[in-house]
Amino acid sequence: MVPPRLGTPLSPSATRVLLLGSGELGKEVIIALQRLGVEVIAVDRYSNAPGQQVAHRAHTVDMSDPEALLAIIEAERPHLVVPEIEAIATDALAVVEERGLAEVIPTARATQLTMNREGIRRLAAEELGLPTSPYRFAQSLDEVRAAAEQVGFPCVIKPVMSSSGKGQSTVRSADDLAGAWEYALAGGRINHGTVIVEGFVDFDYEITQLTVRAIGESGEVETYFCDPIGHVQRDGDYVESWQPQPMSEAALARAREVAAAVTAALGGRGVFGVELFVKGDEVYFSEVSPRPHDTGLVTLRTQRYSEFELHARAILGLPVDTTMLTPGASAVIYGGVDATGIAFDGVADALRVPETDLRLFGKPESFRRRRMGVAVSTAADIETARARATEAASRVRPTAS
Ligand SMILES: Nc1ncnc2c1ncn2[C@@H]1O[C@H](COP(=O)(O)OP(=O)(O)OP(=O)(O)O)[C@@H](O)[C@H]1O
Ligand SMILES: [Mg+2]
Repeated sequence: MVPPRLGTPLSPSATRVLLLGSGELGKEVIIALQRLGVEVIAVDRYSNAPGQQVAHRAHTVDMSDPEALLAIIEAERPHLVVPEIEAIATDALAVVEERGLAEVIPTARATQLTMNREGIRRLAAEELGLPTSPYRFAQSLDEVRAAAEQVGFPCVIKPVMSSSGKGQSTVRSADDLAGAWEYALAGGRINHGTVIVEGFVDFDYEITQLTVRAIGESGEVETYFCDPIGHVQRDGDYVESWQPQPMSEAALARAREVAAAVTAALGGRGVFGVELFVKGDEVYFSEVSPRPHDTGLVTLRTQRYSEFELHARAILGLPVDTTMLTPGASAVIYGGVDATGIAFDGVADALRVPETDLRLFGKPESFRRRRMGVAVSTAADIETARARATEAASRVRPTAS
C-alpha cells in the first residue's frame, strides 16, 4: 500500500506515514523519514512529545482508545501506520488492516501478539519450538504457587501486559510469592490479572539481535541481521548498550536462526529487536519488539545506517544495508529530578569526550528515572567505547531551571 514512488510532502503526491507513539525512538524514525521527503504525522498521549516536535503534524490522544485512533487514521489517510509503543488499541489496527485503510507496520497481528507476553511466548515456544525459559501463566495466587513449584526457584513474575520492568520481580522462595503477585497486579498495563511465571535463566549475557525484514534484490522480503548488541538492564530499563557483543560462532548462528524464525512468523517489513539470553552456545528467546529497540540507540553511530534509518527504508519498501562501521556504546542520561522544562548543564564537557555524540530528547517533563537523553561513543574496542559513553553521560547534569 506504500506507493512505488516517493512524493512531495504537503502535496497530493505525498507519501504519508503516521506514528503511534512519538518518543525518542519515534523521533529518530521521523527524522529518517523526513530526510526522504515523507510527510509524517506524530501521535502521542501527551503534547510536545519528542517525535511531535519534528513531524509535519501532531495529534495528542489516548492511544488505548480504538475510536480515537480510527478517527485520526480516517482523517489523516496515511499510507503506513507505524506503532512505536506497545500500549495501543491494537484492535483498531486490525480494523485498519481489514478495511484496507492503511498498511500496519509490521502487521496488526504482530502488534497484537507482541503486546501480550502470553501471545508471543506461546508463538515462540509452542508453535515455533524455540528454546525459552520454562514458564506457566497464572491468574490467582494459588495458580502462581503451583506455577512456581513447576518452574522452580528463583523465578521471575511479570504481568503479561507491561514493559520497562513494570510489576516485574524475581522471587527466590515461596514466602515471597504473595508480594510478587500483588506487585504484578498493580503494575500491569491493562489489568488482565494474568501473570507469566518464568524460570530464571542464569545467562552469561543478553543481547538484542536487531533483525530487518526488507525487500531484497529478489523483490521479495528478505531477512537481514545487524551485529549483536550487548546491554545492561537495571530496574527494568537498559542503562548501557554496546555493539558488537562478542559471541561464539555457534551462539551467533543460533541467535540468528531464532531471530529469523520469530520475525518470519510475525511477518511484514521493518526492524525487530529480538531479545535473547545466551549461555555458552545456548540461546534462549525472551521477547521481541516489532520496531526499533531502545538498546539499538548505539547504532546511531556504529552502523552505516542506524536502526531508525533501516526501519524507515524497510517500511517504505526500500533496500537496506546493515553494515557496522565501528564498535561503539551508548549510556542513558536520566532526568534525576522531577520537573518540567529542565536545563542541561555540562553538555560541552560531555562532547569533549573523544568520538562522542549526544541526543537530548526534548521531553517536556523530567522524572528522576525518566530517560531524557543518551550518550553514544565509538572507539576501536567496546571497553573504551563503554567508558567514553558512561563518562559523557555522567557529565550531563539535568537541572530544574
Ligand atoms: N526469565 C528470566 N531469567 C533471567 N532474567 C530475566 C528473565 N526475564 C527477564 N529477565 C531480565 O529482566 C529484563 C527485563 O525483562 P523483559 O524484557 O521480559 O521485561 P520488559 O518489562 O518487557 O522490558 P522491556 O519491555 O523494557 O524490554 C531482561 O532483559 C533480563 O535482564
Ligand atoms: Mg525486554
